Amino acid sequence: MAKILKDSPEEIARAGKLLAAGTIVAIPTETVYGLAANAFDEAAVRKIFEAKGRPFIDPLIVHVLSLEAAGTLAEIENPAVKILAKKFCPGPLTFILPKKNAVPEIVTAGEKTVAIRIPRHEIARKILAAAKVPLAAPSANPFGYVSPTSAEHVENSLGKKIEFIVDGGNCECGIESTIVFCGEREVKILRLGVITKEEISEALGGVPVVFAKGILENLAEQNGVPAKAQIAPGMLKKHYSPNAEIRLGNSVSAEFPKFFEELSRAFPSKDFAEKVAVVFQKRPENFSEISKLGVPAKNVFWLSESGSAADAARTIFALLRNLDAAGFEKIFIEKAENFGIGAAVNDRLSRAAAK
Ligand code: TXA
Ligand code: MG
Repeated sequence: MAKILKDSPEEIARAGKLLAAGTIVAIPTETVYGLAANAFDEAAVRKIFEAKGRPFIDPLIVHVLSLEAAGTLAEIENPAVKILAKKFCPGPLTFILPKKNAVPEIVTAGEKTVAIRIPRHEIARKILAAAKVPLAAPSANPFGYVSPTSAEHVENSLGKKIEFIVDGGNCECGIESTIVFCGEREVKILRLGVITKEEISEALGGVPVVFAKGILENLAEQNGVPAKAQIAPGMLKKHYSPNAEIRLGNSVSAEFPKFFEELSRAFPSKDFAEKVAVVFQKRPENFSEISKLGVPAKNVFWLSESGSAADAARTIFALLRNLDAAGFEKIFIEKAENFGIGAAVNDRLSRAAAK
């Protein structure tokens, strides 16, 4: 069991000292919990990879208090980066920037770029200020499993491998940060998050914003594994996966009966009562239709009362963990409407469902 540290001046100071001295500590951020280490301390960073079972070819995100503070780690003189940082930082946005020598190779998996994020979670910021060093932190989950959005999630899956978790309650966003690379002619989105392509495009005016996702997904699919470090775990076809088998259904807003046809095709109906959890984006109105199919009410879940994609992002990982814990072996999930934050939710769902 890891020791839980609270949000008190003493315990935050302790977390900062531990980190500066080379201990790894799980910390809350507004997206998901991160497993943090002093980014300058190679041995400490190595402990992150070991605790997660993460391959060393997957680079980490370095967390700092401001874009200026990133200046010793990376080249920050890029107009699009400045615009986006001004608009969205501190917040759930990560920049891939040309790296400086101060960043150890282990952090960037030998790449010439480094991922920089400026978190807005108050506790994360207090810990950064106390540690007085940049913090390398991937999501605090075993490699390939669902990201943690509470201290309890971290304890449940990494509690035996780490010594300290700072408890900051439930994460506000619930899915990992949007990752961007600002090139000369365009801005590329490497990972979808709650900061959407639409918002990024609007902030940048005329600069084209494109997805790298499709290309990377295809590459990962062809190889089964990342071909090079840029194809991040978040970019892997299979990731964020619970133990239960996941199948996706199209949005019921089109046709409710069709959703159930898809369910019947996905899993044998004899399993409905015991093994299959059915997850809707929004609280379903018609429970009697659902029970007619032999799906008991206790097997029916939803990500949001009202169908808000931001709610779905906030709750999806916790629900997947809960369904695993409850012993469901199969999960049938309705996809979100595919735009804005819904696109980010679908991205996580399709990776969780990938074989
Ligand atoms: O919201 C978040 O970003 C959370 C919190 C803790 O900050 N962190 C997070 O880290 O999701 P992680 O390691 O689980 O995902 C980071 C992603 C990985 O897919 C990694 O491959 C990619 O960022 N990445 C890191 N450095 C990169 C680089 N230099 N070039 C391309 N991708 C990079
Ligand atoms: Mg991760």
